[in-house]
Amino acid sequence: MSEFVTIFEMGPRDGLQNEKRFVPTEDKIALVDRLSECGFRKIEVTSFVSPKWVPQMADAQEVMEGIHRHPAVVYSVLTPNVKGYTAALKVSADEVAIFGSASEGFSNKNINCSVAESIERFKPLLEKARYDEMPVRGYVSCVTDCPYDGPTPPEKVAEVAKILYELGCYEISLGDTIGAATPETIGRMLDAVLAVVPAEKVAGHYHDTKGRALENIEVSLDKGLRTFDSTIGGLGGCPYAPGAKGNVATEAVAELMQRRGFETGLRLEKLAELAEFAKSLRSDTA
Ligand code: HMG
Ligand code: MG
Repeated sequence: MSEFVTIFEMGPRDGLQNEKRFVPTEDKIALVDRLSECGFRKIEVTSFVSPKWVPQMADAQEVMEGIHRHPAVVYSVLTPNVKGYTAALKVSADEVAIFGSASEGFSNKNINCSVAESIERFKPLLEKARYDEMPVRGYVSCVTDCPYDGPTPPEKVAEVAKILYELGCYEISLGDTIGAATPETIGRMLDAVLAVVPAEKVAGHYHDTKGRALENIEVSLDKGLRTFDSTIGGLGGCPYAPGAKGNVATEAVAELMQRRGFETGLRLEKLAELAEFAKSLRSDTA
């Protein structure tokens, strides 16, 4: 039997969070519901963040309450602090994610605190989650390059990844937030991270700004990673990372995995159809 690769669908969250036009709540719900029929095991639905910071995610509660849950799918949400975590509990999210950074510039712009302060802010959330037996995923952004600070030292990424892992995150997702990584920089960064966190606990979250995300995934596969984040139709961008275009497209990652002989459980023909719907939600097409 072929080896399994998990493709974690980010479209409803990372894909839509940066859209200028407010995507109607019913369209967000329709996107999640249609994704739920494609064979995903994990979908990141929305973010319980400050609506002043990310207005597009202001309907997080309505979206979570409106979706039709498929029993085989884990529905995850972003939670930057205890306030977000409490809101996520209220709508029975299956999993939450905290998001830190390996660079100070992005940490300050994205979550309004230093890297060290962010870790302190995550601790009470992680403590509550442990008590509730709620799985927590940990993101580390800007793993090779930061839009504010330039290149990120691999040791810094390893340091933050190790802290989040030891604090209880079940998986560390490594974000090439602005899609500036190359196979070489990803390789060097992974060598540092994999010395402190096992490969099966690490995911690749690569934006495709420069069209290199698939190559970066291939390097990561070779180094033992088996989970990758992507967005249907390549939707996306981060409001606090200028130049960050879409995530790598789910349908392209699924095809790559098929070519490389990995099982994903995804229905490729359904993905192609849904990519068109996802793209129609963009401001430039809607
Ligand atoms: P702050 O201003 O320092 O926080 O923001 P605060 O605690 O002082 O609160 C300020 C206001 O926000 C208060 O409201 C709080 O109640 C409210 P006010 O009294 O002014 O009316 N607030 C909240 N409201 C709803 N939900 C919450 C929440 N927390 C506080 N959870 C904060 C700090 C973290 C809240 C803010 O900076 C924030 O929300 N940032 C989120 C930014 C974001 O979502 N960025 C995109 C996601 S990250 C990403 O895309 C990268 C990733 O994809 C990986 C990669 O690609 O690298 C994951
Ligand atoms: Mg991202």
